[in-house]
Amino acid sequence: MAILSFNTKVHFGHGERAQLVHELRLNRIVRPLFVTDTGVKSAGVFAQAIESLGAIPGAVVFDQTPPNPTEDAVEACAATYHANQCDGIVGIGGGASLDLAKAVAVLCGQAAPLWEYCNRHPQPRPITNAPPVILMPTTSGTGSEVGRSAVIIFRNGIKAGIGCPSVVNAAICDPDLTTQLPPLMTAASGMDAIAHCVETFCSPTINPPCDAIAMDGLKRLFMNIERATTEGSDSHARWSMMMGALEGGICFQKGLGAVHSVSHALGALGHHHGTLNAIMLPYVLRMNAPYISDKMTTMASVLRMPADADLPTVFARLNQRLGLPEGLSELGIDASIFPVIAQAALADNAHKTNPYPLSESDYIKLLQAAL
Ligand SMILES: [Fe+2]
Repeated sequence: MAILSFNTKVHFGHGERAQLVHELRLNRIVRPLFVTDTGVKSAGVFAQAIESLGAIPGAVVFDQTPPNPTEDAVEACAATYHANQCDGIVGIGGGASLDLAKAVAVLCGQAAPLWEYCNRHPQPRPITNAPPVILMPTTSGTGSEVGRSAVIIFRNGIKAGIGCPSVVNAAICDPDLTTQLPPLMTAASGMDAIAHCVETFCSPTINPPCDAIAMDGLKRLFMNIERATTEGSDSHARWSMMMGALEGGICFQKGLGAVHSVSHALGALGHHHGTLNAIMLPYVLRMNAPYISDKMTTMASVLRMPADADLPTVFARLNQRLGLPEGLSELGIDASIFPVIAQAALADNAHKTNPYPLSESDYIKLLQAAL
C-alpha cells in the first residue's frame, strides 16, 4: 500500500487569482520573483494573474522559461532571485514555468549541482531551506501545481524529476487564466492530463483514493476537452479541464507508465510533452490491454461506453478530432533514434509502474507502431 498524502493547499475557482495578494502576505513574501514565459506575458495572462497586486514598480520577473525547462534556465533564474534579494517565488504559466519555479526554489535553499537533487541520482540530496513558492497554472495539463516533482532536462541529457513534494506553499487555480490558451495547446495539454489519469489508474501500485480521483479526472477531461479546444471561452469547459488536470496531478503519485517513460525520453530532445503523450497513449494502451482487462472495463464505464469498447481506438479518434498528430513522424522523429530512446525509457521512473515490465524490444515495437 502506498503512503496516502494529498498535501498542497489549493484555491480553485473563477476569479481565485485574487487570492495571490493574501497568499503573499500569509507566506511573508514582500519581494517575489515571478517565473513565467514570454508567451504568457505577451498574451496578457501574466498581467491578469497578478492584477490583485495593483501596480508593483520594480517587480522582478524571469520570463525566459524554455518550453522544456533546463538546468541552465534553473541556474539563470536562481541567479536572478539572488541578485534581486527576493524572498519567495511565484510561478505563473504552463508546466514548464511551474516546474522551473519549483526547481529554482530547490536550488535557492542549498546551492549544489541540480543533478544531486534528481530522483535519478543514486543518493538524492534532501531539500532544505527552500523559499516559499506559490503556483498559478495557466494551462490545464501537467498538474505541476500539485505534482510532487519538477521535471528538468539536465546537462547530462536526461529528462527527469526532482522530488520536491513539500516545496509548494499554495496553488491558485483560476480557470479564467486558461481561456486564451490556443486550441492546439488546449488539446495537447489536456491529453497530458488524460494520460496522467489513465496511466496512474493502470499502475499496479495500490492506492484506491488515487484511483477514484483518477477516474473522476478522466471523466471530466474526456467530456470537456473538445469543447474547451473549440470554444476556448466556455467557462464550464475550462473549469472542468482545470479540475481534471488538478486531479491528474494529485493522483499520479501512484506512478505513471510507458506513455510517460517514452515521452520523457523523447521530450529530452525538445518535443512537446503533451503532444508526445497524446500520440503514445493509444499505442501503450493497446500493448497494456491484456494485462489490465478489468481496468479497461472500468474506464469504459466511466466514459459511458460499452464494457468492451476499444479504448485505444477511442483515444486515437479523440486525437484526430482534436487535430493532434497521429504519429511520431509528424514531429520529425526518425526510427534511427529508437534504440537510444528505448534505453532512456527503460531507465525512467515511469517505466517501473507500467502494468507490465516492457523489455527493450517491446519499447522498440511500441515506438515503431507509433511512428
Ligand atoms: Fe505528464
